Amino acid sequence: MSSNQTNLNLSNFWMPFTANRQFKAAPRLFKSAKGMHYTTTDDRAVLDATAGLWCVNAGHGRSEITEAVRQQLETMDYAPTFQMGHPLAFEAATKVADFMPAGLDRIFFTNSGSESVDTALKMALAYHRARGEGQRTRFIGRERGYHGVGFGGISVGGILPNRKAFSGNLMPHVDHLPHTHNLVEAAFTRGQPTWGAHLADELERLVALHDASTIAAVIVEPLAGSTGVLVPPKGYLESLRELCTKHGILLIFDEVITAFGRLGAPTASEYFNVVPDIITMAKAINNAAIPMGAVAASRVVHDTVVNAGAENAIEFFHGYTYTAHPAAAASAVATLDIYKRDRLFEHAKELSGVFEDAAHELRGSPHVKDIRNLGLVAGIELESRPGAVGARAYDVFLKCFEAGVLVRYTGDILAFSPPLIVDERQIDQIFSTVRDALREVA
Ligand SMILES: Cc1ncc(COP(=O)(O)O)c(C=O)c1O
Repeated sequence: MSSNQTNLNLSNFWMPFTANRQFKAAPRLFKSAKGMHYTTTDDRAVLDATAGLWCVNAGHGRSEITEAVRQQLETMDYAPTFQMGHPLAFEAATKVADFMPAGLDRIFFTNSGSESVDTALKMALAYHRARGEGQRTRFIGRERGYHGVGFGGISVGGILPNRKAFSGNLMPHVDHLPHTHNLVEAAFTRGQPTWGAHLADELERLVALHDASTIAAVIVEPLAGSTGVLVPPKGYLESLRELCTKHGILLIFDEVITAFGRLGAPTASEYFNVVPDIITMAKAINNAAIPMGAVAASRVVHDTVVNAGAENAIEFFHGYTYTAHPAAAASAVATLDIYKRDRLFEHAKELSGVFEDAAHELRGSPHVKDIRNLGLVAGIELESRPGAVGARAYDVFLKCFEAGVLVRYTGDILAFSPPLIVDERQIDQIFSTVRDALREVA
């Protein structure tokens, strides 16, 4: 710990998704950030290979966003959006809609990805009820899916540690598709694996088991990030779309990490050319400047719910005190303008080949058993130490941090998702640092 940290009391902050005791014994603290870099409290520059938590897509410290937030807070700090409004909320919704696939242009604002997921699940239930099919209450998620930490999200999600302690109280009426990850069939695939489209047919099995008339929605991440970069097999999402349509089931894409340029397109939906009924988003919507999320619903979903309400009555009993908070809305408008003006999604697309090559050059490095990638996302899976899943990746993460590069790891999978402003030199720095770290760890 550096001298300016010695007096910091670390005991009160109960840290999220962190080994609290391990961290507090040797804390890693950032004090500032600009562009592609963080600065630690002991004044070291650290290259951000993860865009924070997959969220700072325009790079850190964008003055346009800071200025928009400052101006907004000085003009009007807060206004409710329950039975009141403010122009920026509507402007932000119009801007977000502009980035969504055609027809998914009814935007509900939340404060996080987890809230977006809960909102989407509620929309699906409200939609079916409004059309006289209120018995459609079942949700189908997927193994290894991550949909945040609300009770809805952990129930449709498929990550054991996130569910285990709470398993007695998960949401009822949930089933799961199998995940699509298979190292025998698809290790070291560049881009989308050709194996695995048939796994979407498992939805037919669940329909045969539960009957379509009980199923409200299927929710999947088009590309799963947090659980170790799982790229959808070719044809898989297309197949899911077809089956959902055939059975009157809504398809929800959780795009909390993929929306706003991660794959070099505004959404994964656009990238894969598969349009769901509902898209959840957060994170890069406003460059993570202020907590914010959103849900884009199709006009059909929106109109069905809204038109079913009695005249002059609230149609959807849902919302947050901070829905479309003025400062968050201002930061979203400023961020979305930057994405367009700086052509950041095009830049991400142009660099994705270089990024892919750099990641796959680590094939053959010690401990590496798979490398996968799409757009500006890559995952490197390591052999686990016997009886100590995650320990080796943690050591690599630590070595990289000490060498000035921030990477992420889940289990023994390293994940990379730099801000979209990254350049070739920085891509090289990221993967050469990882290569050195892999040589050093046991
Ligand atoms: C796909 C997906 N959904 C939901 C979430 C939850 O978002 P939040 O942490 O903002 O609640 C995440 C966070 O990483 C995510 O990756």
